[in-house]
Amino acid sequence: MKHPRVHLLPQNNQLKALMSIIRSKDTARGDFIFYSDRVIRLLVEEGLNHLPVVPKDVITPMNEKYEGVAFQGRICGVSIMRAGESMEQGLRDVCTGVRIGKVLIQRDEATAQPKLYYSKLPADISDRWVLLLDPMLATGGSASKCIEVLHESGVKEDRILFINLICSPEGVKRMLDLFPKLQFVTAEIDEGMDDRKFIVPGLGDFGDRYFGTS
Ligand code: URA
Repeated sequence: MKHPRVHLLPQNNQLKALMSIIRSKDTARGDFIFYSDRVIRLLVEEGLNHLPVVPKDVITPMNEKYEGVAFQGRICGVSIMRAGESMEQGLRDVCTGVRIGKVLIQRDEATAQPKLYYSKLPADISDRWVLLLDPMLATGGSASKCIEVLHESGVKEDRILFINLICSPEGVKRMLDLFPKLQFVTAEIDEGMDDRKFIVPGLGDFGDRYFGTS
C-alpha cells in the first residue's frame, strides 16, 4: 500500500531479519523483547523524521559554519495500554525527559464498542506533537477512540503520528478514512485479519508475548 501519510520503514534485509525473529512462534520471550525493542527504536527514529524543523546554523570546532536544522515544537508520547506501554522505553531512549501519557480503552461488552476506561495526558498536550504508541493496528477500534480522546484534549489531527510495528490493511484504511490528516509510521502492513481479529500472518498477541502473560 502506497499512501503519502503512511510512512513504511525502509524494507531492507535488516528489518526483514528483525521481523522474522519477532514473528516466529519459536522465538523465546527474551529475544522477542530484545528484537521488538530494536524495531521500536527504528520506528521512533523514523517518526522524528516527520516532525517539522527550522534552519539552524552552528559553528564547528573548525570555526566553519554548518547549515543545520533544529526541531520545531515539542513532542510527547501517548501509549495505548497495555501493549503500547512496551514502546515507551524506545521513545525515552531517543527523546530524553519526554512526557508520556496513557490511555486505557477496552471493548464494552454491552455495546461491543471501544470504551475509554482511563486517560492521563500531559496538561499542555494541545501544544505538542503526539507520537501515539500501539504495536499492532488490527481493526482500529481502540486507536480511533484514542484519537477522539486526543481531539477532546485539543490535539490537532495533523500533529499525531501513529507509530506501530504491524498494521492490517483494513485498520489502515479505516483510520485514513476517519482521520484524513493522521500520519502513520509502521514497519509492515500484513495481509489481513482472521475471524478473531488477529492480524495474519502477524505475530500473535504482542502484549502477551512482550509481558510474558500468555
Ligand atoms: N493485537 C495483537 O497483539 N495482535 C494482533 O494480531 C491484533 C491485535
